[in-house]
This record gives sequence, C-alpha cells and structure tokens, in this order.
Amino acid sequence: MKLAVIGSGNIGKSIGAWAAVSGYEVIFSARNLQHAQEAAEAAGHNSRSASIIDAVKEAGMVLLAVPYGAALELLAELKPLLQGKILIDPTNALTADYSGLALGFTTSAAEEIAKIVPETKVVKAFNTIFASIFASQNPIIKGNTISVFYAGDNKDAKSEVAALISKLGFDAVDSGPLAASRNIEPLALLNISLGYGLGHGTSIGFTFVR
Ligand SMILES: NC(=O)c1ccc[n+]([C@@H]2O[C@H](COP(=O)([O-])OP(=O)(O)OC[C@H]3O[C@@H](n4cnc5c(N)ncnc54)[C@H](OP(=O)(O)O)[C@@H]3O)[C@@H](O)[C@H]2O)c1
Repeated sequence: MKLAVIGSGNIGKSIGAWAAVSGYEVIFSARNLQHAQEAAEAAGHNSRSASIIDAVKEAGMVLLAVPYGAALELLAELKPLLQGKILIDPTNALTADYSGLALGFTTSAAEEIAKIVPETKVVKAFNTIFASIFASQNPIIKGNTISVFYAGDNKDAKSEVAALISKLGFDAVDSGPLAASRNIEPLALLNISLGYGLGHGTSIGFTFVR
C-alpha cells in the first residue's frame, strides 16, 4: 500500500523512513517541499516527495504528522481528497506549555479530526511514542517490545494500520473504537511527563503485558 506522509518533521520523516525500509511505497509531503525532498532522500528505498495534495491523491493511507491545530486547518482543505482513505492520527493536542491536554473526557483530538473528515477512516496510532524511537528504527527496549495503542471505527482500516505497526516490529494493541482515543491521548502526556519532566529521557515506551 502507498503511504502518504503529510508533514516531514520529526514524526513524519522518521515513521515514513521506517515504513519505506519495511517495504511501503512512501510519499513524503510538507508545506515546504524542500523538507519533504530531504526526508525522501534520507529515507531512500521506495520513497519520494510530492506536494501535500498530490501525495494524498495517490495514497490509500495517509499519516497526518503535523501539529494538531495545523491538522484541523489542513483537513478542511483536503476533505474531498481523503474520502474513503485511511488517515492515521498521531497528533497530541497539548496546551501551549505542554503541561496538559487541550481536550479530553468528552472528546479527543482523533474524534475532532474525524468530525472534519467524516468519510475518512481515521485511526489513532503512534502518538504515545517519541520521535527518537521511530528514528532509531528499534521498537525494543531492554528486551521489551514497545506497544502501539490504536483505535478506530473501521475494522478494515484498523487492520491496515495494525499491519503497519507490526511491520515496524511494535506490538499492535487494539484499544477499541475511535472514542478510545480519549484513553490513548492522556498516555502520550504521561510519556512526555516521564521523558522530560521526570528525567527518563526519550528512549522510553509503554509495553502492554497480557
Ligand atoms: N515529536 C514527537 O516525539 C511526537 C511524538 C508523538 C506524537 N507527536 C505528534 O506528531 C505531530 C507532528 O509532530 P513533529 O514532532 O513531527 O512536529 P515537527 O517536527 O514540528 O513537524 C511538523 C510538520 O508539520 C508541518 N506543518 C506545520 N504546520 C503546518 C500547516 N499549517 N500546514 C501544513 N503542514 C504544517 C511542518 O511542515 P514544514 O516542514 O513544511 O514546515 C512539519 O513538516 C504532532 O501532532 C505531535 O503532537 C510528536
């Protein structure tokens, strides 16, 4: 499957590069095309760059690797192009000082995103993991495989995203319908707090033990 990456920053370039190594045809895009070109050059394999619109047109699955606020604006514009496609949402809607979630309890970033593109199959994933883990292309820390919690309302879309998660070597944990993003998003805040606030650094992750 072709994966379009919108936003070639820390998350976009690292997940995109890893997906390319794992056999996905990856199309990097960004506002600044040069950033997408650099990401594609660094990723190599079967990857290239394109404008955001062209990347989305071509791919069946799209990774929305931009800040939450930018995502809302962008999606209003991309709505017709995203119809029927899978949209992976790794965003974290944080307060300006990163100390809290900007929304929760009665909604989530993923649900707000899905409201803008109701005919797109939104799947929450990857938001609880630091970009440096993706950049390392190593999902295992001290023998523990990091879990990627994912949530969505469309069964087939969830299977495709679970396949990507597993292909990267993570433990894919089905966490329920899209509304379960209300549970997953606070976990990202805990990760940030442990990593930065409490000094554990960014080579950390959660493992779900069954
Ligand atoms: N960094 C982490 O460890 C981490 C972990 C989990 C989840 N996340 C989430 O992942 C998302 C991306 O984070 P990041 O760290 O990769 O951010 P980043 O390094 O700042 O990259 C952001 C990307 O978004 C693009 N962008 C910004 N505003 C835009 C707009 N209005 N329209 C179109 N594109 C826009 C930028 O484009 P240009 O290159 O053209 O400027 C850039 O490619 C965020 O929602 C974040 O909460 C981050």
